[in-house]
Amino acid sequence: MEKTTRFARTLLATVAGLTVAGLAQAGEVEVLHWWTSGGEAKAASALKATLQAKGHTWKDFAVAGGGGDSAMTVLKSRVVSGNAPAAAQIKGPSLQEWAAEGVLANIDDVAKAEKWDSVLPPVVANVMKYKGSYIAAPVNVHRVNWLWANPEVFKKAGAKVPTTWDEFFVSAEALKKAGIIPVAHGGQPWQDFTTFESVALGVGGTDFYKKALVQLDQGTLKSATMDKVLETFRKVKGYTDKNAAGRDWNLATAMVIKGEAGMQLMGDWAKGEFIAAGKVPGKDFTCAAAPGTAKAFTFNVDSFAMFKLKNEANVKAQKDLAAAIMSTDFQEVFNLNKGSIPVRLNMDLAKFDDCAKLSSKDFVDTAKSASLVPSVAHGMAVPSAAAGAIQDAVSQFWNSDKMSVAEAKAKIASAAMAK
Ligand code: BGC
Repeated sequence: MEKTTRFARTLLATVAGLTVAGLAQAGEVEVLHWWTSGGEAKAASALKATLQAKGHTWKDFAVAGGGGDSAMTVLKSRVVSGNAPAAAQIKGPSLQEWAAEGVLANIDDVAKAEKWDSVLPPVVANVMKYKGSYIAAPVNVHRVNWLWANPEVFKKAGAKVPTTWDEFFVSAEALKKAGIIPVAHGGQPWQDFTTFESVALGVGGTDFYKKALVQLDQGTLKSATMDKVLETFRKVKGYTDKNAAGRDWNLATAMVIKGEAGMQLMGDWAKGEFIAAGKVPGKDFTCAAAPGTAKAFTFNVDSFAMFKLKNEANVKAQKDLAAAIMSTDFQEVFNLNKGSIPVRLNMDLAKFDDCAKLSSKDFVDTAKSASLVPSVAHGMAVPSAAAGAIQDAVSQFWNSDKMSVAEAKAKIASAAMAK
């Protein structure tokens, strides 16, 4: 008895000691993100839980607004005032722009210990590095060129899920006749641009997409193919509803979920909404490549850039976050909720649905056939100044039915030169 008590006391003291040691190490990580819709918030809670499981404190810095334009504006003002968060959702070439300002932390020690170079596709690893050192941790691969549809309303309208743009307009017409809004769309420039890039890829093909939107080649931007792209894009607008202005993307997805609208052109964060609403892929909703783009893949990788911090415990917490983000457990639970696929290679996808499996297969196949292209609308392709200017020009065209295709083409070509 006496022996047990002493043992119990020693054990308690050890546990207490460990806890105190743990607490001494515990830090706080303030995380800026824009994941506020149903599916996004679920995915964000997985990130929060992962950090908390390491004994650290999560300080939420959510700035609502799909696509992250508002979040980036807020981030700039916080960094300028010397009050950067520990981690921020920053993507693509913008990572390089932030790193060049000298505000990002080098997390090579974490990346080396966790062997990031061997578990990440090179196309992703390169973007996470500045001058050869890791400055950000990637969480996923979103595919942007998707078309989401409600099979029940398609059936009611006697329409089929389109695979080409010609078929798209036939189906849209049938849905309209059946009294259903054919295309669910929201009214924000990034949503217009998301549709635009899928039209550009489908109508113009991969080479056109790369030359026009990635290399920003003036000749291609001013080509006859661009006329066709803009005409098709305008035609899509004719099948959206009058109340689209200002609507958030997830409310547009909700229209498809409820059967008020037939389809939506959106990245697979939309799948996160269907799943959060308890809908079953293949039954309650379908995922198909945007018309004419089945053999291509527009990628959008979410990542967290790590800012330089002074407090040692917070630096430790930040590094723990970076390591956790790349762990197989996190990559699974996060992406099951987010609608994306793990960015980490060779993961077991047993728990993932057919949309994710198709995405994963197409990601690998398109990388081999050079038809894996960066999403311009989601900040993967060109510096932020040009991307922002092109987005504005595309949106002006979408919103003003009076602007001619020739005028829009000239505007987009000149926007592409923005520095
Ligand atoms: C991000 C996604 C996000 C979507 C809508 C995209 O730019 O990459 O993570 O869900 O915007 O907010």
